Amino acid sequence: MRDLLLCPPDHYGIEYEINPWMSRARGADTPMVQAQWRGLYEKLCSLKANVSLVTPQPKLPDMVFTANAGLTVGRRFIPSNFRHQERSGEAPFFAKFMEERGYEIVWLPENLYFEGEGDALFGADALFCGYKFRTDINSHRAVADLLGCLVISVELVDPRFYHIDTCFCPLPDGGAFWFPGAFDEYGQRAIRDRIPDIIDVPEEEATFFCCNAVVLERDIVLPQGPDKLIAKLRDRGYTCHPLPMTEFLKAGGACKCLTMFMPQRESCKV
Ligand code: ARG
Repeated sequence: MRDLLLCPPDHYGIEYEINPWMSRARGADTPMVQAQWRGLYEKLCSLKANVSLVTPQPKLPDMVFTANAGLTVGRRFIPSNFRHQERSGEAPFFAKFMEERGYEIVWLPENLYFEGEGDALFGADALFCGYKFRTDINSHRAVADLLGCLVISVELVDPRFYHIDTCFCPLPDGGAFWFPGAFDEYGQRAIRDRIPDIIDVPEEEATFFCCNAVVLERDIVLPQGPDKLIAKLRDRGYTCHPLPMTEFLKAGGACKCLTMFMPQRESCKV
């Protein structure tokens, strides 16, 4: 049973533009937002996840994307240092929430941008961290020192895939699926070296945010659309649960962005 953190979408909306998917002219439909979020919440609960909810705050419309709250390993929580001032107000609310639940809060130096699980995912034998659009590469060193784990830093090169969780999804069998075009050549090599049997996702499926998936053992909750990927995952023994996510795609997010693992790992192997 995994513990997850979600945030109800009471104050969600497209109120600014900080990634190429967001357009204030293309607002989210409130009843659909509620229905799609509830669909995710209920699906995760039905898969035996233990879901906690943080209280949404007015004027913080992206707080719904809890993957960016921070990174939790064991009883330690590293809060995000958001790059955009539009989101930086979220950090104290998430830190307080985790502190009240008994986590040790470990802040990174404030000049190091770091956007939590959005840019830091455990897979195979390492913590894979993305940098450039949001997270600073220097924060990776700080996270590695703090946690004592092997960090693989990879540069993101396509602004549509501005967090690593938009284009890379590790699997519990040591594999992963990803959109290679979101990484530079060096990053592609670094990932393929550690995950030789990785599943490539074509661009047309990647733009559905199909890599933005919540993996709970053999169950994968992902946005509707990527039929080729779903067939490949089925062949590897996974059950996919596609959900409509159109209203969150308008903000550049989907299932995984809306979910944080509490903790993501109990400890890190070096
Ligand atoms: N509008 C949000 C932003 O640009 C979306 C965040 C999506 N989160 C994620 N983990 N990829 O920051």
